[in-house]
Amino acid sequence: MMGFSSIGEKKSPLTKNSNLRFIIWASFNHLLLFLFSYYFLLLIFFFWQTEKISAVSVTPSTNLPVEGTSVNLTCEASGPVFTRNWMKDGSELTPTDNMTLSDNNRVLTFNTVNRKDSGEYFCQISNPISSDGAKYIMIVNYGPEKVQIKGPNKINVKGTLKLICSAESTPTARFTWFLNGTEIPSTSAEYIKEEVELSDSGNYTCQAWNNITERTSSSAVHGLTVTVSNVSVTSSSTDLVEFSGSVSLSCSASGSSLSFLWLNGSSEVTASDRVQLTDGGSSLTIITVTRFDQGPFRCSVSNPVSTGTSDPVNLSISYKLNALYLESFHRVNVNFLCSLYI
Ligand SMILES: *[C@@H]1O[C@H](CO)[C@@H](O)[C@H](O)[C@H]1NC(C)=O
Ligand SMILES: *[C@@H]1O[C@H](CO)[C@@H](O)[C@H](O)[C@H]1NC(C)=O
Ligand SMILES: *[C@@H]1O[C@H](CO)[C@@H](O)[C@H](O)[C@H]1NC(C)=O
Ligand SMILES: *[C@@H]1O[C@H](CO)[C@@H](O)[C@H](O)[C@H]1NC(C)=O
Ligand SMILES: *[C@@H]1O[C@H](CO)[C@@H](O)[C@H](O)[C@H]1NC(C)=O
Ligand SMILES: *[C@@H]1O[C@H](CO)[C@@H](O)[C@H](O)[C@H]1NC(C)=O
Ligand SMILES: *[C@@H]1O[C@H](CO)[C@@H](O)[C@H](O)[C@H]1NC(C)=O
Ligand SMILES: *[C@@H]1O[C@H](CO)[C@@H](O)[C@H](O)[C@H]1NC(C)=O
Repeated sequence: MMGFSSIGEKKSPLTKNSNLRFIIWASFNHLLLFLFSYYFLLLIFFFWQTEKISAVSVTPSTNLPVEGTSVNLTCEASGPVFTRNWMKDGSELTPTDNMTLSDNNRVLTFNTVNRKDSGEYFCQISNPISSDGAKYIMIVNYGPEKVQIKGPNKINVKGTLKLICSAESTPTARFTWFLNGTEIPSTSAEYIKEEVELSDSGNYTCQAWNNITERTSSSAVHGLTVTVSNVSVTSSSTDLVEFSGSVSLSCSASGSSLSFLWLNGSSEVTASDRVQLTDGGSSLTIITVTRFDQGPFRCSVSNPVSTGTSDPVNLSISYKLNALYLESFHRVNVNFLCSLYI
């Protein structure tokens, strides 16, 4: 606008006054131009001088953060830093009570780090000409906690035992197994034993250990009873004739150190001159069978913790009719009855 008026003034005759005004105006114009150029150059210089941001890094104060300890994440870069922003798992970081951002967001401090703080941390650094970021995946180590054993409390002899121990732990815990307080060979989460014996009964204990936190869990205890099974009776013969021979019944069961008991019907069989109990009670021998020995016989096997009973076995015993009765028949000459059996 001043330009237009100056053109107008140029046309008018020069006066001292107008001359002076022109000089002032020109100087002012030059100053303005100078300032503007200066500022412009400054800006160019600034942008030219300002480095791009590069080599952003997030460095933890420890490579193995353990729950409950203090951890710092430090965000650095080369180039002038104007702003730093932190994100966790893709969203804006919302600091909790136990978290502090300091030194213009350069250091993120976890006063007592928690397993929930595990995740991906991203630090974004910006200056007027560039922006760059770096991430750090933090895994908070903790545990072991809540140790427990899963598996059967009862198992048949010769069965396969499988116990599984679990614990909450990062990294995965190592396990140690004990039976009745004595260490047994297994360092995995599973304890497997094929063909269990009665001596495998007892208290199983599992302890978990975390090699990073260097903590050992309390023990989980699991009671196991190995039970007797497959109790069966075999007979030397089942078709017998009264007074004309002996019979042996033999009882077998899975396991060792068992005790045997024989049942005749519902009553216990006791040894006598006619009845022998041998082989630790597992064999029953009736030396002279009578018609009353048809049973049913059952064998009951026990160990201190369980009992198993066999299926019943019947003996079929043929016997001659009463001799007196036969004799009376004889007398009335009915010979064909002489060898009558039932
Ligand atoms: C974390 O940083 C703070 C301040 O920067 C410092 O006082 C503290 O010792 C650091 N902690 C660890 C574990 O490095
Ligand atoms: C902060 O730490 C204390 C002590 O370790 C803990 O009890 C509390 O739950 C923590 N708070 C948060 C928000 O994680
Ligand atoms: C029981 O007997 C059956 C058949 O004789 C056999 O297959 C099974 O393995 C036995 N079980 C045990 C625990 O000995
Ligand atoms: C097993 O544990 C029970 C109770 O926890 C205890 O009464 C028993 O004596 C233990 N048995 C052995 C062999 O340690
Ligand atoms: C463990 O204790 C139980 C119960 O007292 C016993 O039956 C078993 O034989 C014991 N086992 C070992 C290996 O000590
Ligand atoms: C901890 O155990 C894991 C395997 O479970 C192994 O990879 C790691 O190297 C161990 N760390 C230390 C410090 O012993
Ligand atoms: C079986 O029981 C009957 C009575 O019920 C008895 O007469 C017989 O002698 C018994 N036999 C044996 C071998 O115990
Ligand atoms: C054994 O005899 C009883 C009667 O004494 C009968 O009920 C049972 O069925 C018989 N068992 C067999 C296997 O024959």
